[in-house]
Amino acid sequence: MVTEIADSGAAGTYFPSDYIAGDPSAVVTDDSCALGDIPIIDFSFLSNGIPETRAEIVRELGQACEEWGFFTVVNHGVTEEMRAAMMDAFVGFFDLAAEEKDEYLGRRVMDPIRMGTSFNSTVEDAPYWRHFLKIWVHPLFHSPTKPTVFREVSEDYAKHTRYLAKELLKGILDSLGLGEKEMEEALDLDSCSQVLVGNIYPPCPNPELTWGIPSHSDPGLLTVLMQNETDGLQVMHHGKWVCVNALPNSFLVNLGDHMEIVSNGRYKSVLHRAKVDNQNTRISIVTAIGPSLDTVVVPAPSLLQRGNHPAAFRGIKYGDFVEHQQSSRLKEKSVLDHLR
Ligand code: SIN
Ligand code: FE2
Repeated sequence: MVTEIADSGAAGTYFPSDYIAGDPSAVVTDDSCALGDIPIIDFSFLSNGIPETRAEIVRELGQACEEWGFFTVVNHGVTEEMRAAMMDAFVGFFDLAAEEKDEYLGRRVMDPIRMGTSFNSTVEDAPYWRHFLKIWVHPLFHSPTKPTVFREVSEDYAKHTRYLAKELLKGILDSLGLGEKEMEEALDLDSCSQVLVGNIYPPCPNPELTWGIPSHSDPGLLTVLMQNETDGLQVMHHGKWVCVNALPNSFLVNLGDHMEIVSNGRYKSVLHRAKVDNQNTRISIVTAIGPSLDTVVVPAPSLLQRGNHPAAFRGIKYGDFVEHQQSSRLKEKSVLDHLR
């Protein structure tokens, strides 16, 4: 298991051959990855109550969604202290002795707390260089019991990032011209589901042979990510991979498959992947917002009527979509593609 390699002190030197990706030639080196002009959204202008500045940011959000499906958020109101405390709490969890955390070793993909390596080892050819802890935090809040600070810190972090994501979502739906009532009916954001995932990617001696996580889109509406100082995320933009160098104290936000569905394909979920580093451990903390697990999201009716467009997707219960995505081999947009 990748963390056992790290714990044995062999991180950075030992590379078990079963980790070699099915198609190692696809694990491109960073030189073939351009640095792009990723859009930056100043959240304070979205939330300051001034209609003119909000309208401008809504326009920028719409453009970022249409052009990239991905953007950086600054002035987001989540303090550096809170971000650092969340990072420390996840590191504290991963540093626990095996017997203190093994109860969370995941069996079923929809378990409220699930720890594991790779993505889903039961369906993969080769494992990925990743260790994760995934927790459902809304509408029901779950937390591991150790380290003792984890519960309080993660509840606070989840609440603040949920607010951030919901305000961004309202701005994005606004940019599509959807009214508040239609948004409420379509997505019922009050009962949205939220997961929190901590990912650790230890140093890897052969980063050109394996992935941290391979190319995929996220199932939900919006994903909000923070990371330590080690970069590694790449996003697909106009057919090319773009390396993401995160701004300090920013969040990286990407659209998920259910945003593509509700917008009837106008805003696309973005393909992304993470490389590993041969020197440094990378840590990313992801929180993903989706509709409630019972909701069936379909393309917004007003978007279909306005342009006289046929629906590009059929709907499925969000919980079933996530379960299917988590049980399948991670591959680009394979789960969303079933609904076209
Ligand atoms: C993910 O897509 O789930 C994680 C991406 C990252 O670690 O940057
Ligand atoms: Fe992802």
